[in-house]
Amino acid sequence: MLRIGHIELPIPVMLSPMAGVSDLPFRLISRSFGAPLAFTEMIDINAISQRDKRTTHMLSSCPDDRPLGVQFLGNSESQVALAVERLTGQAVDLVDFNAACPSPKVTRKGKGAALMKEPKKLAGILSEFVRETSLPVAVKIRAGWDADSVNARDVALYAQDAGISCLFIHGRTKAQGYSGMVDYAVIRDVKEALSIPVIASGDSLSREKVVRMFSETGCDGVAIARGALGNPWIFAETVRYMTDGAILPKPDVPERIAVMKRHLEMAVEHWGEKRGVGLFHKFFIWYTRGLGGLRPLRNRAFRTGTMQGLIEVIDELSLVYPRYRKRTPPGGPEVQDITAP
Ligand SMILES: Cc1cc2nc3c(=O)[nH]c(=O)nc-3n(C[C@H](O)[C@H](O)[C@H](O)COP(=O)(O)O)c2cc1C
Repeated sequence: MLRIGHIELPIPVMLSPMAGVSDLPFRLISRSFGAPLAFTEMIDINAISQRDKRTTHMLSSCPDDRPLGVQFLGNSESQVALAVERLTGQAVDLVDFNAACPSPKVTRKGKGAALMKEPKKLAGILSEFVRETSLPVAVKIRAGWDADSVNARDVALYAQDAGISCLFIHGRTKAQGYSGMVDYAVIRDVKEALSIPVIASGDSLSREKVVRMFSETGCDGVAIARGALGNPWIFAETVRYMTDGAILPKPDVPERIAVMKRHLEMAVEHWGEKRGVGLFHKFFIWYTRGLGGLRPLRNRAFRTGTMQGLIEVIDELSLVYPRYRKRTPPGGPEVQDITAP
C-alpha cells in the first residue's frame, strides 16, 4: 500500500504522465489492467487562463478514472491561484507540478526542467500550491539540468520543505532527454534524503525493469510511461510478478484485437470520430510494434479516417498474424513479443 496524502494505492506502480498520450481513453485502458493512479496530460497554466476548450477536454474524467492527478506546467507563483481555481468542481485527487519537461519550447520560457536551475523559485511555486489547495501536491523533477549540474537531491529537499506530499523523479538530466542511462544512484540519493514518498521514473519498460528500479533505488513507487504504450498489460504483468513471481503469458491476438478495438471506441467517444481515429493511428503502431510484415496494414490504418474502417484493419491482424507465426524460425518464440519497446 502506497499512501500519498489521503490517496491509498493498493499497488505502487502507476501510469506516468505523457503529453499527447495520457487522454481519458488511454488512462481507462491502463487502469483496466491495474494502473491504480494516472495523470492528465500536462496543462500549461497560461492556457488555463483562457479557459480554452483544449484544457476542458484535458480535465475531463469519469468515475472509473480515479484517483486522478492533474499535472500543471508554469513558471510563477502568481499563476497558482488560477490553476487551483480551475480545478473547482473537477474530479481530481492530486496536483502535480512539472519541473521535468526537457522540451526547449518549454524550458526557454523558464518552465519544466528549467526550474531545476532555480530550486528556490520552484519551492516558492510549490508552497503556493500547498497553500491554495487542500489536495496533496506533488512535483516531478529530473536528475538535474545536465551532467555537470546533477542537483536532484537539493531540489527535492527544497520541494519537501515546501510541504509537498510526494515527489516524482525521472532519473535522467534535462540534457539527456529520453535517452542514455537512467541514474539509479541519483534516485536512491533522493529517496534516502526525503521522508515523503518518492516515485521513480525512467526506462521501466518491462516488469523486470520495474523490479530493478525498486531494488536499485529503494523508491516507494514506480511510474511507467513508454512501457505502457500499446502495452497496457504491463501493469497486470508487473503486479503479478511482484506479488507472487508469476510470469503472465503475453496476450494472444484475439485479446490484443479486443483491447485495440475497445481503446479505439473510447477514443472516438471521447474525441469524436475524426480526431479519435486520427489520434488512434499512433496507438495502432504501438500496439503492433515489433510485429514484422505489417507495413501494408499500417499504411492502410493511416489512410483510414473512419472508426469502421480502422476496426476492419484491426480485425485483419488476426489474418496476418498466423501467417507471421509460420515464418517464425524453428525453435524461435512461438509468439513474438510484439510489445517490447
Ligand atoms: C510521449 C511522452 C510524453 C511525456 N509527457 C510528459 C508530461 O507531460 N509530463 C511528465 O511529467 N512527463 C512526461 N513524459 C515523461 C514520462 O512521464 C517519463 O517520466 C519518462 O518517459 C521516463 O519514463 P519511461 O522511460 O518509462 O518512458 C513524457 C514521456 C513521453 C514518452
